[in-house]
Amino acid sequence: MIIQPRVRGFICLTSHPEGTAQHVKQQIDYVKSKGKIDNGPKKVLVIGASTGFGLASRITAAFGSDADTIGVFFEKPAAPGKPGTAGWYNTAAFEKEAQAAGLYAKSINGDAFSDEIKKQTIALIKEDLGQVDLVVYSLASPRRTHPKTGTVHTSVLKPIGQTFTDKTVDFHSGVVSDISIQPVESEEDIDNTITVMGGEDWKFWIEQMKKAGVLAEGAKTVAYSYIGPELTYPIYRNGTIGKAKDDLEGTVPLLNDLLSDIGGRSYVSVNKALVTQSSSAIPVVPLYISLLYKVMKEKGIHEGTIEQMQRLFAERLYADREIPLDEKGRIRVDDWEMRDDVQTEVAKLWEQISTENLEQISDIVGYRNDFFNLFGFNFDAIDYNKDTNELVNIPSIK
Ligand code: NAI
Ligand code: NA
Repeated sequence: MIIQPRVRGFICLTSHPEGTAQHVKQQIDYVKSKGKIDNGPKKVLVIGASTGFGLASRITAAFGSDADTIGVFFEKPAAPGKPGTAGWYNTAAFEKEAQAAGLYAKSINGDAFSDEIKKQTIALIKEDLGQVDLVVYSLASPRRTHPKTGTVHTSVLKPIGQTFTDKTVDFHSGVVSDISIQPVESEEDIDNTITVMGGEDWKFWIEQMKKAGVLAEGAKTVAYSYIGPELTYPIYRNGTIGKAKDDLEGTVPLLNDLLSDIGGRSYVSVNKALVTQSSSAIPVVPLYISLLYKVMKEKGIHEGTIEQMQRLFAERLYADREIPLDEKGRIRVDDWEMRDDVQTEVAKLWEQISTENLEQISDIVGYRNDFFNLFGFNFDAIDYNKDTNELVNIPSIK
């Protein structure tokens, strides 16, 4: 079928199999261009492996360190006449590239929050790998069915305490406008967001894996967090999602205790703001990212998801030195985003930004391009008027 972008709000309903394959290939090529990561991970489980930071982590482990990888995610396969999701096609492309390179790669499609998927994953590790030495936890989800109670919790992206008003952009139309976001009405919204995006599920994974004996001596686990600039504090770090990130970060000492007898360690890495399916859903943030990209590209320090994850593995997690942590015990690969000179410029531009000057003073063009790339669109080498086969299989999923 002919597949072109169909955009609704901040999501794109279609994905292009050849375009997403090209996107994956670009990421693989980047990792290869950086050379092998000495003493990197060898057997890796990535939870949330199909898009964004999780996919980039999987690619870095496989192609930067020859690691065997198992990826868990929640994606939709194609049906005749209906394309699959980007994460489905990404994984199909990843597995094929991994196979061609002689690397083990298998995937599990299902609800990572459930006990059932945890059991399946543990069984697969036992059968094929014995144990893993790295667990990457990179889920981003709007809801979670709690495995113990069956309750469905829905997260919200809201400020706490007072209404937040600031600029935002509709990145498709390029209209910059003021948005007011009402604060949460009850503690319940906060609790639900923590239940979905906090650390409990990460803890459940590590507990169950430890109990099953599938964590190797010295195993590491890492989850991803975000801080960002003061201007997004009301909607991000001091909002409901920030409470969930506090909870995630607060899980690190618990997991360190749990892992101490096998010499394991857990980490949270604070990553840079980037265009992913999840971040495009947060008000205000896409406008901030457009300005951030502009400033970081001008300074020659821009990174995408793959550059971030390659640096996390090569220069933090597996650098042959003690891993540098901030005062709260976190790894920081948002260090360049948070540089004073970068933030000062972004703040200055933030004051000026409007619909009229959006194209000149922000990198909205780069934002849009990255957004469409997530779904396999905007690649020069691909003719989007041509038929493509939507029915692509992930080799390891029958
Ligand atoms: P993403 O939306 O690209 O990836 C989410 C992944 O989770 C996908 O693989 C998806 O299939 C999987 N997933 C979602 N629900 C699932 C479920 N129920 N069962 C199994 N898999 C499920 O998101 P992104 O942006 O890569 O986020 C990953 C982590 O990185 C999140 O914790 C996010 O807060 C964090 N982060 C994101 C930043 C950004 O700017 N995008 C910045 C810093 C941290
Ligand atoms: Na190393």
